[in-house]
Amino acid sequence: MNENLKGKVCVVTGAGGTICSKVSFDLAKNGVKLALVGRTEEKLIKVKEEIEKIGGECFVFACDVTDINSVDKLVDAVYEKFGVCHYLVNGAGGNNSQAMPTITQFDPRELDESTKPEGMRGFYDIDMDCFESVIKINTMGSVLPIRAFAKRMAKDGGGSIINFASMNSYCPLTRCFAYAMSKAAVVSMTQSFAAYFAPANIRINAIAPGFIVNERSKAYLGTVEEGLTPRGEQVIKHTAMGKFGGAEDICGTVRYLLDDTMSSFVTGITVPVDGGFLTLSGV
Ligand SMILES: NC(=O)c1ccc[n+]([C@@H]2O[C@H](COP(=O)([O-])OP(=O)(O)OC[C@H]3O[C@@H](n4cnc5c(N)ncnc54)[C@H](OP(=O)(O)O)[C@@H]3O)[C@@H](O)[C@H]2O)c1
Repeated sequence: MNENLKGKVCVVTGAGGTICSKVSFDLAKNGVKLALVGRTEEKLIKVKEEIEKIGGECFVFACDVTDINSVDKLVDAVYEKFGVCHYLVNGAGGNNSQAMPTITQFDPRELDESTKPEGMRGFYDIDMDCFESVIKINTMGSVLPIRAFAKRMAKDGGGSIINFASMNSYCPLTRCFAYAMSKAAVVSMTQSFAAYFAPANIRINAIAPGFIVNERSKAYLGTVEEGLTPRGEQVIKHTAMGKFGGAEDICGTVRYLLDDTMSSFVTGITVPVDGGFLTLSGV
């Protein structure tokens, strides 16, 4: 149990997801009271049940964090329940395969329906609304909660906020246009808002996870144990530690960045938790 975190209140968005379900559970184990946020209530209820089994305190709030009115309602619900909010973890985010081409580079055949191979999706086949929705969840999906919660944190004397960047923030992976550009924006927004809210004693940092195993990643990267796809092999070759990470590998960095006694002079940074992915150039 981390005595510095004990009794603090934290909102976790994307709390039903791979990383932030584990992060929520880990914070609850350390005595943090939680608001579990995501669009799908059932996923959040499962996390709540796990937390309650260990005597933790939390409640579920289903909402879309890209919707400004829903986020305002979330703030009201948190303050009604706990009267305060010390921390915000912006875990809601992600990619959409429909916003990704199936090819890594332009192929002239994508311009001509009569020659385009079946199943090929080039950049010109991507639905731009879908493309935009990826940008929206990864950018405004954190900006709106920051805006809403920082207002209250500023009045209460401060807080700590964590955003989620990606390896794509540093150098885009192929096929990830919308995701990569929006995760690059997370690093930038983390710096901008950290600078802006520093006088309010609100620290804002980000975590850039490397390749963390989840159901989706299993489908397109495979697993070290059961066999990798060609893309998965590239990732593992490029990861100095030679393995994928687990959601539990993120939890220590979350605790460090939230805990005012551990990271009191740290703001505006993005911490890679990547098994050394960024240490290798690929050559
Ligand atoms: N896993 C990785 O390898 C990895 C690597 C780098 C960065 N990241 C980033 O780390 C964060 C967490 O990743 P993850 O792997 O845990 O993803 P995940 O399993 O897909 O979880 C993300 C959660 O966000 C919620 N969400 C999505 N859109 C939302 C919206 N508009 N409003 C509210 N909630 C929403 C989803 O639940 P609902 O659909 O029910 O809303 C989902 O449970 C994401 O920002 C991701 O981009 C992950």
